[in-house]
Amino acid sequence: MSNPVSYNAHGPVAVLRIQNPPVNALSQAVRQGLSEAMDRAEADADIKAVVIVGDGRAFIAGADITEFGKPPMEPNLPDLCSRIEASPLLVIASMHGVSLGGGLEVALSAHYRIAQPDARVGLPEVHLGLLPGAGGTQRLPRLTGAAKGIEIMTSGGQVKAAAALEMGIIDKIETGDPQEVGLAYATELVNSAAPRRAVSELAGPEAMDWDAAYSGAVSKARGQNSPGAIVRAVQAASELPFAQGLARERALFTELLQGDQSKGMIHAFFNERAVSNLPELKGVTPRALNAIGVIGGGTMGAGIATAALLAKMQVVLIETGEAQASAARGRIEGNLQGALKRGKISQEQYDALTQDALVVAIDYASLSDVDLVIEAVFENMDVKKEVFGKLDAVCKQGAILASNTSYLDVDEIAAATSRRSDVIGLHFFSPAHVMKLLEIVVADKTALDVVATSFALGKAFGKISVRAGVCDGFIGNRILAVYRTAADHMVLDGASPYQIDRALTDFGFAMGPFAVADLAGLDIGWMTRKRKAPDRHADERVPTYIDKLCEEGHFGQKTGEGYYLYEKGQRASVPNPKIPALIAAEQADLRITPRDFSDEEIVRRYMCAMVNEAAKVVEEGIARRPADVDMVLLFGYGFPRYRGGPLKWADLQGLDTVLADIERYAQEDAWFWKPATLLKTLVADGRNFDDLNRAAGK
Ligand code: 3HC
Ligand code: NAI
Repeated sequence: MSNPVSYNAHGPVAVLRIQNPPVNALSQAVRQGLSEAMDRAEADADIKAVVIVGDGRAFIAGADITEFGKPPMEPNLPDLCSRIEASPLLVIASMHGVSLGGGLEVALSAHYRIAQPDARVGLPEVHLGLLPGAGGTQRLPRLTGAAKGIEIMTSGGQVKAAAALEMGIIDKIETGDPQEVGLAYATELVNSAAPRRAVSELAGPEAMDWDAAYSGAVSKARGQNSPGAIVRAVQAASELPFAQGLARERALFTELLQGDQSKGMIHAFFNERAVSNLPELKGVTPRALNAIGVIGGGTMGAGIATAALLAKMQVVLIETGEAQASAARGRIEGNLQGALKRGKISQEQYDALTQDALVVAIDYASLSDVDLVIEAVFENMDVKKEVFGKLDAVCKQGAILASNTSYLDVDEIAAATSRRSDVIGLHFFSPAHVMKLLEIVVADKTALDVVATSFALGKAFGKISVRAGVCDGFIGNRILAVYRTAADHMVLDGASPYQIDRALTDFGFAMGPFAVADLAGLDIGWMTRKRKAPDRHADERVPTYIDKLCEEGHFGQKTGEGYYLYEKGQRASVPNPKIPALIAAEQADLRITPRDFSDEEIVRRYMCAMVNEAAKVVEEGIARRPADVDMVLLFGYGFPRYRGGPLKWADLQGLDTVLADIERYAQEDAWFWKPATLLKTLVADGRNFDDLNRAAGK
């Protein structure tokens, strides 16, 4: 393998150039290359300074994450950083693009740092369930102070060059070729006999109320361990000599690296990128995407139109009448006002988007020029078929016809047109301009370039796009229906909805299932139960206590009353005192003697139901790989990122224990708990879901 670090002497300055595309991650070869190049510079009596610079689009994006979990390879990064800092030569980092994680830690070990005006720096290890492990927790706060250092490391955000300069993270901003800028700076420093400046020799950061900072970080972290550990590492920087602080950092880093949370987050990092790499799309050219049609400007249509406008596309939105059209425009403008307030767009852009880029009409003929249409009308097959028939008549040849249906059969919708190969499902999540997930539902006859175009659309919208097959609810809603049912069964058997919500938010979910039901509207579940009642199997347990609330016109948050009570203008909710009595009445009717549930059992049953259905979804090919299911749950259903997704969770638990629990639950309710064949096969073969991910390729 060729050396990814090149060495070139320019008079008294040696330039160490890292060439490890795409982002110059600090692989073993890069670490060794840097270490050897430092040796070489120090061995040359003519060399007075070293400039470290990155090739391509970034200085260094950090440690090579693919090496985590493998046996460590020398030289390790903390030693390399100490070695660079200890050099008798002047070391200068010339930074462009991003300097992240280990990349910034290398720069902090240099004696001077110069950056391009558009450069950004950060220590994002927290997003991998880690903390900076090559001196970052010890060096950064020596420059920024403890509070700002903690802020940067616990948020994992990127700091722009100007702010980094103000905080003392970098010394200078200069426009130009990073190597030339670095060389000029080094020459200036050598000529002025500037001193070596080791950050480790600066005084540690000021003391603060460490316990309060720790509790603050922990309470914001929703169960994630690394933010608290970051505070403790900075405390060590403040209280201990540098070498001891570094040792403390190392111990905390190793503990996090060996824990399940970093495994879950690293799984998420790679798979949120891998979900859109479909082997069958290699070499397939997507169709053009300039103008988008949206049918229906309700909650979803308005959100989808907003996302398209923010992606700089022309939008034609169709509604049923003038009043609906004007309401739809109002919703879109409201969404864009939000983007304006958050500084995502300027007033000028707002005006251009709402006046020039958006057309709201009631006449389908306005769609004659769009490249892709997304239908978001009521969830009713007859209405959808009628709309697709009309689209077939007015849209140009080659236009893609997509449905945002949550559950309906996309093959049946496609059959309402004369161009089934152009039809696909694009299932967005509410609010569509905010939620990251897009399920791309590939129907029986969908053409490959239609799939490729849909992934291109997802990318343009900034979504994590996951391929799904056709079934009731696709990947996410199908699995949701099952774990929601498991929660309902626990209520019938004695757990309160409030205990369940709390146990699951303690586990890390953004919200519990009953709070979610209130948010989505209880009428949806009520209607589904009524629709499915005639086909219900005799052994199926379906609680109906909440229907009594619906019959009185209470549908959750939107009416102010559901599982919880919502006072107008107040965010906080309180349990609805009517619920326990409704549950008790149903238990009495069914002759159930309620029992106690531990939080642990609640989580286990909920997760086992999720994993079992997810395994069926993979087994049937509805999801391409187990990791695709994980990404759906992470980005669409509030699943805690630090657990990686339900199937990663199952792998970490051990699939044999998960299967054993499902089989035990099946002894109580064999109709609901039917173990997935795939789960049984994997256990029998001693394999797990990650083995399947690897077999499917990236
Ligand atoms: N290690 C290994 N691979 C990496 C990587 C890293 N640190 N950073 C990015 N990559 C890979 C990605 O997986 C992707 O691979 P693919 O093309 O095969 O899917 C490729 O590089 C390009 O990445 P993106 O698609 O994300 O490119 P973007 O331009 O959108 O983003 C980025 C670039 C901002 C650098 C982003 O990739 C990123 O945030 N990377 C992670 C940065 C990070 O977390 N660094 C800290 C690492 S941990 C550490 O340093 C520990 C130390 O403290 C001891
Ligand atoms: P909504 O009721 O808020 O909006 C539907 C809109 O469609 C209304 O404004 C209505 O006037 C319009 N409409 C009805 N028939 C039409 C026609 N023939 N031509 C043009 N416009 C027509 O409904 P919502 O919530 O936006 O849902 C729309 C679709 O999106 C449904 O299929 C739903 O299942 C799906 N969906 C909903 C999600 C949600 O959280 N609300 C999430 C993901 C998908």
